[in-house]
Amino acid sequence: MIEQDIESRADIETLLQQFYGKALTDPVIGYFFTEVVPLNITTHIPVIADFWETILFGKAAYKGDAMKVHRQIHQLSAFRDEHFKRWVELFQGTVNELFAGPKAELAKQRAESIATLMRIKTVHGALHRSNKII
Ligand code: HEM
Repeated sequence: MIEQDIESRADIETLLQQFYGKALTDPVIGYFFTEVVPLNITTHIPVIADFWETILFGKAAYKGDAMKVHRQIHQLSAFRDEHFKRWVELFQGTVNELFAGPKAELAKQRAESIATLMRIKTVHGALHRSNKII
């Protein structure tokens, strides 16, 4: 049984490496990372780690606009409901494999709520607004 919670940036990086290891080869969402916006994992993981440090530890590390990035991806290749469902399944499954505790729960909740917001703003149409999420 896993007893370790997400406690540090190193833990976030471990989580992200495992998650993207699965996401890149996933039959439902893999092509976004390999064909739509070929992902440079070395430059991408530090940016996403900043994002999660901001969410989980309140550190003002992330300076980007994740909603804008995903609106742009949606314009290149349309997101569908099942893409977000799969993303959340993979992310939450990876958290469960590695961590347990309040921060692990928070990460799973925020992944789901942000995915829902992104899904509504992209798949369900509200493309015109400014949607900065953090
Ligand atoms: C259908 C589901 C999703 C797909 C296919 C997807 C795919 C991608 C891709 C292709 C990139 C661009 C990478 C690059 O420019 O190098 C990206 C960036 C990113 N994604 Fe997602 N994403 C999804 C959902 C999410 C969700 C739900 C979150 C947050 C909970 C998230 C967080 C991020 C962040 C923080 C970035 C970096 C943005 C930046 O460059 O500032 N993604 N995603």
